[in-house]
Amino acid sequence: MTAEHRAVAGPGSRAGSAPAVDAADGPLLRVEDLRIHFPVRDRVRQTLLGTVKAVDGVSFDLHQGETLGVVGETGSGKSTLARGILMLRRPTTGRVFFAGQDLTAMDAETLRRARRQFQMVFQDPWGSLDPRMSVMDIVAEPLKAHGLAKGEELARQVVDLLQMCGLAARDAGKFPHEFSGGQRQRVGIARALALRPRLVVADEPVSALDVSVQAQILNLLRDLQRELGLQYVFISHDLRVVRYVSNTVAVMYLGKIVERSERHALFSLPLHPYSKALLSASLDTDLGEASAEEALRPAARGDLPSPLSPPSGCRFRTRCPIAIDLCAQAEPPLEEKSPGRFVACHLVPAGAGTPDLAAHAAHSGPRLQTPPEGQARGPALA
Ligand SMILES: Nc1ncnc2c1ncn2[C@@H]1O[C@H](COP(=O)(O)OP(=O)(O)OP(=O)(O)O)[C@@H](O)[C@H]1O
Ligand code: SF4
Ligand SMILES: [Mg+2]
Repeated sequence: MTAEHRAVAGPGSRAGSAPAVDAADGPLLRVEDLRIHFPVRDRVRQTLLGTVKAVDGVSFDLHQGETLGVVGETGSGKSTLARGILMLRRPTTGRVFFAGQDLTAMDAETLRRARRQFQMVFQDPWGSLDPRMSVMDIVAEPLKAHGLAKGEELARQVVDLLQMCGLAARDAGKFPHEFSGGQRQRVGIARALALRPRLVVADEPVSALDVSVQAQILNLLRDLQRELGLQYVFISHDLRVVRYVSNTVAVMYLGKIVERSERHALFSLPLHPYSKALLSASLDTDLGEASAEEALRPAARGDLPSPLSPPSGCRFRTRCPIAIDLCAQAEPPLEEKSPGRFVACHLVPAGAGTPDLAAHAAHSGPRLQTPPEGQARGPALA
């Protein structure tokens, strides 16, 4: 169990404090030009080799009742973005507002209290649970740390949480190694929900699970969202998973969002050449777990460039089948091309995504075969 897992659970903190963040008008979460850069040094000489711009100018709003799916190849910055949103990694620049309050300006204690309202579900339920602690202690830890319950009331709340997540009261006395992967993830979800958060950031929450178990966990997350009024930022490299859980989808490439659209719009008519390649290849692939990177190779040219030296101009240009000279010179901004459709591409015209320009969008990029809604191949997720 890492320090990051502990930071989310909040052990060793003072008890009894009120939440630092209250309800406010506007989006529940606002991310403004977030940048998280990592200096990379030579291990021996400690000279600076360069900077990885893992997240480089990401902005979006998340509203009440919304699930934002974040998809992209390995190394595109999804996990770094997740950590940045939750302040597990302080941003290099940019701001994150939760219910109108600037998390980036909070001191450690205020942030600790605010964390009650936003929690994380990690990819690896094994690594995120302390093997020496019983499930009762694991799920009780955040409640105790925030001074919300003790004694019999604490035990009752833990059992309620376990049952809400499909586990039994008797499971409270067990240890992580006594569970299957799916059950361990249920424990991780129960712990994340202990403080009744409003926002849950889930980083690849089903990637480590068997395909047969993935659907159960996804259904659980959807049921909990309805019951508890949760908002999710849901990160996955699996487009089918993102399609199943999200209202809105953001496609990331080398630290940037290249397209953000409502789910149906994106899956029926992706506008950015990268989104097109990703969707086309993924939906054409009969892989049991069609990951973005596996799916992209046949459709887009070349491997992901080094994040230490991304291409000039548009970062996708070295793999883009329709790149022009301008693409090497100028970085395309993420613009609202039509209502709710944000795309960063010089060649996607204003109005793209509306019916009269749909034909242009459908034929201007690599091969694109998106089946009608509900006909994507892969495991049954419903
Ligand atoms: N602590 C760090 N120090 C230096 N570079 C880092 C650090 N954390 C992440 N990176 C780099 O930042 C980039 C984005 O990494 P990140 O883990 O966010 O990608 P990801 O989209 O989550 O990938 P994956 O799908 O494999 O989980 C990568 O190039 C990674 O090597
Ligand atoms: S800006 Fe140019 S290189 Fe980038 S996606 Fe659009 S066409 Fe391709
Ligand atoms: Mg990741």
